[in-house]
Amino acid sequence: MSGTPAEEIADLAAQLAHHDRAYHERDAPEISDAEYDALRRRYAALVAEHPEAGDPAGGVGAAPASGFAKVRHGVPMLSLDNAFAPEDFDEFCARIRRFLGLGPEPLAFVAEPKIDGLSISLTYEDGVLVRGATRGDGAEGEDVTANIRTLKSLPERLVAPFPARIEIRGEVFMSKADFLAMNAAQEAAGEKTFANPRNAAAGSLRQLDATITAKRPLSLFAYAQGEASEPVAATHWDYLARLRDWGFTVNPLSERLADGAEAAGFQARIGAERAALPYDIDGVVYKLDDLALQRRLGFVGRAPRWAIAWKFPAEQATTVLEGIDIQVGRTGALTPVARLTPVNVGGVLVRNATLHNEDEIARKGVRIGDTVTLQRAGDVIPQIVGVVESQPRGPEPYVFPDHCPVCGSLAIRPQGEVVKRCTGGLTCAAQVEERLIHFVSRGAFDIEGLGEKTIREFHAERIIASPADIFRNLPPLEAEIAVREGWGALSARNLVAAIAARRAVPLARFIFALGIRRIGEANAKLLARHYGSFANWRTQMLAAVTIGSEARSDLGAILGIGPAIAEELAEFFAEPRNVEALDSLAEQLQIADAPAAAGGGLSGKIVVFTGTLETMTRPEAKAMAETLGARVTDSVSKKTDIVVVGADAGSKARKAAELGVRTMTEAEWRELAAEAAGSG
Ligand code: IVH
Repeated sequence: MSGTPAEEIADLAAQLAHHDRAYHERDAPEISDAEYDALRRRYAALVAEHPEAGDPAGGVGAAPASGFAKVRHGVPMLSLDNAFAPEDFDEFCARIRRFLGLGPEPLAFVAEPKIDGLSISLTYEDGVLVRGATRGDGAEGEDVTANIRTLKSLPERLVAPFPARIEIRGEVFMSKADFLAMNAAQEAAGEKTFANPRNAAAGSLRQLDATITAKRPLSLFAYAQGEASEPVAATHWDYLARLRDWGFTVNPLSERLADGAEAAGFQARIGAERAALPYDIDGVVYKLDDLALQRRLGFVGRAPRWAIAWKFPAEQATTVLEGIDIQVGRTGALTPVARLTPVNVGGVLVRNATLHNEDEIARKGVRIGDTVTLQRAGDVIPQIVGVVESQPRGPEPYVFPDHCPVCGSLAIRPQGEVVKRCTGGLTCAAQVEERLIHFVSRGAFDIEGLGEKTIREFHAERIIASPADIFRNLPPLEAEIAVREGWGALSARNLVAAIAARRAVPLARFIFALGIRRIGEANAKLLARHYGSFANWRTQMLAAVTIGSEARSDLGAILGIGPAIAEELAEFFAEPRNVEALDSLAEQLQIADAPAAAGGGLSGKIVVFTGTLETMTRPEAKAMAETLGARVTDSVSKKTDIVVVGADAGSKARKAAELGVRTMTEAEWRELAAEAAGSG
C-alpha cells in the first residue's frame, strides 16, 4: 500500500527535493542517475493524472538556490547529440551533407576527447579576464569569477593580439590522481568525499569561499567560443591554435581529420589509450572544422548540427564478489555494497560497487563468491552488471537482512517501495544526527541557539546523543558548554534557558519532532487533534501495531491519514527502542493536550463540504475550517455539525436534510468563518 496519489506525490516531491539538493548544492548524489530519473518519471506520471495534487515542475529539478550571482549567457551554452556506433556517426555526416547540399567532397572535422567535467564560460575584455560563469541551465549560469581566477591553467591576461571582447568556453575538470588524492585527504579529515571527478570539480568550483577552490586541483581545457567582437579564425582548428597562442591549454590529443571517414580510426586509437589517460573521458567530440559551414548549419533543439559526441561504452572488468556490506544512510535506508577483490577498471582500482537494493540483488541473481562483471561510467563507485555464469558460483542465494546492522532495530520495506529502512530512527547511530536536527527545527522544538551546526558539533562530541539528552541534566550541560571554544558562560546560560523554555510543548509539535516517516506538520496536527493527549495517543498507537485491531482501523480512518501512514506509525511503535526513546523523552517534558476547546471559534465542530465551491478550492476550504478548530470529514452523519452546500450538491446535502443537520451556502459559511475568526 502506498497511500493516496496525493500522499505519494508529496512523498516523491520531498524525495526529489532532497536528491536535488544532494546533487546540486552538495555535489554528493546519494542515488544513481537512473534511480533519480525513475523517481522523476513516477512523479511526472502521477502529477499528469492528478494535476490538483502537485505542480508539474514543483520543487523538482528546480535551479538550486545559491550564493552566486546569476549570469545570462549572450549565446546559450548547449549540449551535444550523442553517437554510440559507427552508423550513428555516418548518419550525422549524411545529415550535414543533406542540409548543406554537399556532394561526396571531403568534410574535415576536429576530434577532441570528451572530458566529463563542467563547462565554463570565460569573458575577456581588452585581453583581461572579467568574468567566469558556469553553464547553469544553459541560458543562465552562476558568476564564479573569483573561483575561476584561482585555476593555474587559466590565463588572467591574453597574449596579444586579441579581439576587444571575446568569450571562451572550456571544461573544468579534475584528473584521476588528483581526485583520488583529494578524496583520501577529505576522508582522513572527516570531510565529505565525492562520487566522481565531475562532482568533485563542480563542488570545488562552486565554493562560496574562493580560497577553498584555490586549494583544489582543478584543470581546464579550452575548446569553444561564445560571443566575440570580431571573427578570430576561419576554422575550428585555427581557433584552437589561437587559444594556445593566447595562453590556454588545449587538449594535446585533439586532431584535425581530413574527412569524417577517419573518425572511426581516431575513436579506436583514443579508446585504446583511454584507461591510461590521466583523466576520465567518456567519448570524443567531433566538430565540423569550417566555421562558415558551422554557422550555416546552426542548431536544432539544444544541440548544434555541426558537432556530435561519440560515446565510448562504459569501462568493464570482472572480479570476485567477496561479501555484501549493508550501509545505513542518514534517512535509515539500507544500501547493499559489494565488497570485491580489488580490480583495475579503466585506470581506477575498484574495491566496492553499489548493489542498489534488495530487488537488484535478486534480479541479478548475485551470490557471495560469484565472479561478476563491473562497469564504471565516470563514477568511482561502479555498478555490477551481472554474474559471469561460466565461472564457479557462490554456494547460496543472498538473504537481505531484516534488521539494521547498525542498531539492531527492525528493518522494513513498505509495500510498493524498493528501499528497506531501519525503523530505529531515534536510536540508530546512523540516523540520530539527522533526527536531532529535525527535532530542534522550526516546526518542531524550535530551540533558539540550537541549530543544525551546533547539533552536529554536540553530537560529534557526544554531548547530545538522543533527543532526551537535550533536556536531561541541564546544569551539567551548561557547565560543559560554557567552557567550549566560542561559547562562554553567558551563551551557555542562554542556550540552557532556551531549552528549558521548550519543556512545555504542544502535542502536535511533539509528534512532528519525532521525525516519523510521512508525519509532517499537517499530519502531526491531525493526530494531535484526533487523540487529544499524549497518553491517549501513545496507548492507541501501541494498540494500532496489531494489524486488524480497532485502534489500527481508527487510525487509518482519520481523514488525511489513511492506511499507508497508519502503517508507518505502527512500524515506529512496533520497535521497542523507539517506544523507550519516546518515553524517556516524554519524562523530560510537559506535553500539552491538543486544543479541543481552545483555538479557533469553530472548535470541535465537524464540518462537511459538498458540491462545487465557487470562491475557494476544497483544500483551501478545509484549511480554513481547520484553522478555526473545526474537523473536516467526508461523510455526513448525526455527529456532523455543519454541511456547506456548493453547486450541484447531491446525496450529502439530501442526507443532511434527512438527519436535520445544519446546512449553509458557501457565502453563509464565509460569514460564519469570518465571525469565528474574530471571536477565536
Ligand atoms: S563543445 C555547442 N567540446 O560536453 C557545443 N564540449 O555534452 C558545446 N564537453 O556541455 C560543447 N569536452 O561540458 C565541447 N571538447 C569538447 C568537450 C565538451 C567535454 C562537454 C561540455 C558540454 C557537454 C555536452
